[in-house]
Amino acid sequence: MKGSDIVFHLAANSDIIKSAKDTRIDLEQGTIATYNVLEAMRGNGVKKIVFTSSNVVYGEAKKLPIPEDYGPLFPISMYGASKLACEALISAFCHNFGFKAWIYRFANVIGSRVTHGVMLDFYRKLLRDSRELEVLGDGKQSKPYILVDDIVDGMLFGMAHSSEDVNYFNLGTEGMTLVSRIADDVIRAAGLRGVKVRFTGGVRGWPGDVARVSLDMGKLTALGWRPRCGSSDEAMREGVRAIVAELGKSLGPVKGKTI
Ligand SMILES: NC(=O)c1ccc[n+]([C@@H]2O[C@H](COP(=O)([O-])OP(=O)(O)OC[C@H]3O[C@@H](n4cnc5c(N)ncnc54)[C@H](O)[C@@H]3O)[C@@H](O)[C@H]2O)c1
Repeated sequence: MKGSDIVFHLAANSDIIKSAKDTRIDLEQGTIATYNVLEAMRGNGVKKIVFTSSNVVYGEAKKLPIPEDYGPLFPISMYGASKLACEALISAFCHNFGFKAWIYRFANVIGSRVTHGVMLDFYRKLLRDSRELEVLGDGKQSKPYILVDDIVDGMLFGMAHSSEDVNYFNLGTEGMTLVSRIADDVIRAAGLRGVKVRFTGGVRGWPGDVARVSLDMGKLTALGWRPRCGSSDEAMREGVRAIVAELGKSLGPVKGKTI
């Protein structure tokens, strides 16, 4: 780390369903890992950090779309609690040790080389059984999606156009996309027809799932940034096409009734 100008800290636990059951996962792989990164930076004289936070720090916000100055922040998941704790630690290091930080509260990220998330989950389920697709919750969960290329672009743009000690931004798209719509689009992109979509029920997909989220993108927009795919539905459509084509090659095509 010595001699580096900046640390991009992206490491985290991504299995939020597992961490709802094992309460140490996000504490260790999120909060303590971030503290260790900050301490290593302090020890090596590195003073700039970019941190990938999440919209889940807002919890079940009473205002949609949610602006960055929304409060109080009461996350409802272990993952969200850890992201908020990381933001707090970063702020304290900035104020005590002259660090500068760029914190990005991401929407749901989609696109090439996906490692987890709703689309991969749907595709894997269809590979196992292409007659029926299980969707966690009632299908009405609505969230914003953003393409990974736009995430990278937005992070670099925010860094180039802000210079407070602690800079923090929502990083997403306008609007939100229904999970039942993602199911339909994945089925169509996989070339299937006649798939029965079965909802497990309940407003949340899992404990700690925030069922409705939309992000106010005014802060980055005011600086002049626009994502290439500006609406959540548009980003999701493009993401589904890219992911399903890629998974078809790596995991194999889904066999079943085809369109
Ligand atoms: N993907 C999303 O929708 C989304 C949304 C909001 C925030 N984020 C945040 O963005 C960041 C990147 O997310 P992603 O989707 O690419 O996740 P990912 O799981 O694909 O990547 C995270 C990586 O961190 C690594 N990691 C975890 N703990 C580590 C440790 N102690 N030391 C070294 N490596 C470690 C994991 O092995 C993994 O490769 C994460 O901080 C995540 O919380 C992602």
